[in-house]
Amino acid sequence: MDAPLRLPDVLADETIRLDAYRVADAEVHAAAEDREMRLRFDAPDPDVAAPLDHVRDVMRGWIAARAAGRPNIVYAIREAGGALAGGCELRWLDSESLNVSYWIYPAFRGSGLAARAVALLCEAARGEHARRLEAHIDADNTGSRRTAAAAGFTEAGTVHDEGPDGAPRMRLRYVRPLPG
Ligand SMILES: CC(C)(COP(=O)(O)OP(=O)(O)OC[C@H]1O[C@@H](n2cnc3c(N)ncnc32)[C@H](O)[C@@H]1OP(=O)(O)O)[C@@H](O)C(=O)NCCC(=O)NCCS
Repeated sequence: MDAPLRLPDVLADETIRLDAYRVADAEVHAAAEDREMRLRFDAPDPDVAAPLDHVRDVMRGWIAARAAGRPNIVYAIREAGGALAGGCELRWLDSESLNVSYWIYPAFRGSGLAARAVALLCEAARGEHARRLEAHIDADNTGSRRTAAAAGFTEAGTVHDEGPDGAPRMRLRYVRPLPG
């Protein structure tokens, strides 16, 4: 577990570009993050926005992890014009599994950006020494379930993640094997 992730600095297709978050992205992220994102990512109170200083600290953590190659790599998702539209992350779950997560800011949803970003991330992850990619998704999160399905994940039971209060939170486990 926790082997360095050696993904490219930049992933791109004809529509989007995935690159590093910068601390300067914090204002846009803080202003765009909505209740749905806070809910799905286990914020202590989804109705309360995180302070900007906290968002900056989170981004510094992402930048440091990227430099270290572990335990996760986070990409900013940018539109062709450069606008920050969301992000996605690959993180070690255990020695065989990498967790995939993703978020698109409300103004950019419904245009296929998550599906594109997850496809790029999964393709880039093929070189990692893991047996599978996983996404842990709330049963009522239809958009995320369809995004995972579009990227080749299939439903494989349930998992119990740790919720914001430390209590177990049951989610659907979506899996996509990685070629060995
Ligand atoms: C889930 C999320 C990333 C989807 O982003 P998006 O860019 O709007 O998704 P896309 O436009 O790429 O759509 C991908 C698929 O999901 C479907 N979809 C997206 N949002 C949907 C919704 N609210 N309801 C039903 N289906 C939805 C699309 O129709 C598409 O399905 P298809 O491949 O069958 O045509 C976005 O809503 C989000 O950031 N939500 C909050 C954070 C979150 O839940 N992250 C996932 C945590 S596991």
